[in-house]
Amino acid sequence: MTQATNDQFLLAARPVGVPKDSDWQRAAPPLAALNDGEVRVKLLYLSLDPAMRGWMNEGKSYVRPVAIGEVMRAGGIGIVEESKSPRFAAGDTVMGVMGVQRWWTGPADDRGAMLAKVDPAMAPLPTWLNALGMPGMTAYFGLLDVGQPKPGETVVVSGAAGAVGMTVGQVARNMGCRVVGIAGGADKCRFVVEELGFDACIDYKAGPVHAGLKEHCPQGVDVYFDNVGGDILDAVLTRINMKARIVICGAISQYNATGQVKGPANYLSLLVNRARMEGMLVTDYAERYPEGVATIARWMKEGTFKAKEHVVEGFENFPSALLMLFEGKNLGKLVLKVADA
Ligand SMILES: NC(=O)c1ccc[n+]([C@@H]2O[C@H](COP(=O)([O-])OP(=O)(O)OC[C@H]3O[C@@H](n4cnc5c(N)ncnc54)[C@H](OP(=O)(O)O)[C@@H]3O)[C@@H](O)[C@H]2O)c1
Repeated sequence: MTQATNDQFLLAARPVGVPKDSDWQRAAPPLAALNDGEVRVKLLYLSLDPAMRGWMNEGKSYVRPVAIGEVMRAGGIGIVEESKSPRFAAGDTVMGVMGVQRWWTGPADDRGAMLAKVDPAMAPLPTWLNALGMPGMTAYFGLLDVGQPKPGETVVVSGAAGAVGMTVGQVARNMGCRVVGIAGGADKCRFVVEELGFDACIDYKAGPVHAGLKEHCPQGVDVYFDNVGGDILDAVLTRINMKARIVICGAISQYNATGQVKGPANYLSLLVNRARMEGMLVTDYAERYPEGVATIARWMKEGTFKAKEHVVEGFENFPSALLMLFEGKNLGKLVLKVADA
């Protein structure tokens, strides 16, 4: 063992609106010796995800809330430092839900952590938290399974310059669809068109989204992959085609709402167009992840898919780094670097 104490961020209070520094508490408990069947992982990178905001709230959801005083839940990737389990050896690279801390210690088969070995030679470690990890699988299965795009159709994706959105757009482009992104700012729009091969991108901060959709989706919208909800979802609903599919992946514009979540006023467009809107949760596809990882890894090798991560340095910067998601300050998958290997 190289270190005597851990370093953790605990949830200190349930945030009202945007999380504040006082919603966190730092802790440094001792690192205990391992029991049989346990491993200790030194975390190198943490995945910062919009869903973390929801996990801080009380109430029923697809996963139990993080308790007050508990280590904040987060995905991460690291190196097994010590092992008393035959499943992992010291030096293995593993990813899983290990929390906002420098070391994770527990049973190798812990059901909450879902530790899985990854091949660090296949891609840089942050990419395993991105296109080859949870956001990538969300985009891949959400688009293909729920969105069911066909070649030649028009696919619109919001949060286009973020982790999920970037992957959705590239999968759709590789399927032979017309791809139109929606993102905040000229730089993000330029990036997805010039670097990732989207056909067009609407800067929702520069003008009305419905006008952009009219211009860039002259044939209407067949698939809308929604990462943001709110007014943008409402605008897209006015432009959908007959039998359109709307994938409800997330609604980041609503996650810090202190009042009621804003629902779509234009939902009767679903009736008029005999369209459907369906929610998706990435973990429902866990058994099929190897298929998604293999396809995206092959595309990366062939040069038809680019992964981009936005890496913030410094474990101590966790509270402000998390907020970057809600301020639109990330271009690509937001990752916090915790330590060198
Ligand atoms: N269902 C699932 O299983 C699942 C799994 C993973 C993620 N998700 C969801 O997928 C969505 C994207 O997640 P991600 O990890 O890829 O995050 P991300 O897109 O990398 O980062 C979040 C982005 O959201 C945009 N945003 C923030 N506030 C906004 C607002 N008020 N209106 C419009 N856009 C806003 C910002 O981009 P701009 O600069 O463009 O505003 C920001 O960069 C989230 O809603 C997340 O909860 C769902």
